[in-house]
Amino acid sequence: MARKVILDVDTGSDDACAIMLAYLHKDIDLIAVCSVKGNQPLKNTNENTLRIRELLGGDFPVYKGCASGLVSDLITPRMPRTRNVDAYDENGNKISFHKELFDLPESVKKEEDVPAPVFYVDYLRRAKEPVTLVAVGPLTNLAVALLIDPDIVKNIEEIVIMGGGHHITNATIAAEFNIYDDPEAAQRVLHCGAKITMVPLDATHSAYIGKDTSQKLRKINTPAANFTADLIDVRILVHNQCQPLEVPDTCALHDPLCIAYLIDPDVLKDVFFCNVEVSTSGITAGQTIVDNRAHQEYRNVRFAYRGDPQKFADIFVEAFE
Ligand code: BDR
Ligand code: CA
Repeated sequence: MARKVILDVDTGSDDACAIMLAYLHKDIDLIAVCSVKGNQPLKNTNENTLRIRELLGGDFPVYKGCASGLVSDLITPRMPRTRNVDAYDENGNKISFHKELFDLPESVKKEEDVPAPVFYVDYLRRAKEPVTLVAVGPLTNLAVALLIDPDIVKNIEEIVIMGGGHHITNATIAAEFNIYDDPEAAQRVLHCGAKITMVPLDATHSAYIGKDTSQKLRKINTPAANFTADLIDVRILVHNQCQPLEVPDTCALHDPLCIAYLIDPDVLKDVFFCNVEVSTSGITAGQTIVDNRAHQEYRNVRFAYRGDPQKFADIFVEAFE
């Protein structure tokens, strides 16, 4: 039976890929998508989410969520975000991982009236069976829902989070972007008592995606497959110039790796059940601190150190086929 999933996104190029993989794969029953600010302001991440739904011809509801973090924008001083060096395409145009708005028609159908955290509370209170939550943006929506009603945890089967990094960071010297963007929310979610699987940069960078995948998608030649192939090719260009991976001419496609894990858990390797805490202060704000000791009294997170690139690419392409 397909697994029931609610997806939380700050769409974003790799978020778009996560939405498409979740919608298209037969093993996932996508109940709803919630937007949050992150890669862009909320207005844009929400509109980008709606544009992807229309590209897919999808009928899942979209709920607009939080426009800022719990307290992160009020706290100073914190380590400022590291700016990427600029990247350019072959014509000399400036490019980046995430466009403000996708080059897709403006959405016709809009989001639901209910705000995302309220939707979580309502839905989970009434759920007849546990639901899996996949959060691939800052964790604000979930933290707010848990503040309103911590008991909703009873109906959460698992929370899969794209965030954090042990050996790799990207927002600051210490922190990955999603966790850095709202460290207090992340710390709250990591301690909510649900089963939590964390897919950090260590996993997403080792599950690199290359041009062979975008070429396979172009052969499938649907609007969604072609759009995804374009996103992958831009990400490869940006990675080559700003964050080169171990294998040249590849990119990290962070967010859909969480969906791939639900389809085949073996896509994540070296998964260690341990204590993970989030720093909320000073130069380490947003850092995920992972206890690697053998003896730990308290363990709250399954932290994946590695991803399998071949398995990931196969699952990804299969969904679009
Ligand atoms: C994460 O940050 C965002 O920019 C991406 O969409 C991904 O969720 C990677 O650090
Ligand atoms: Ca994201």
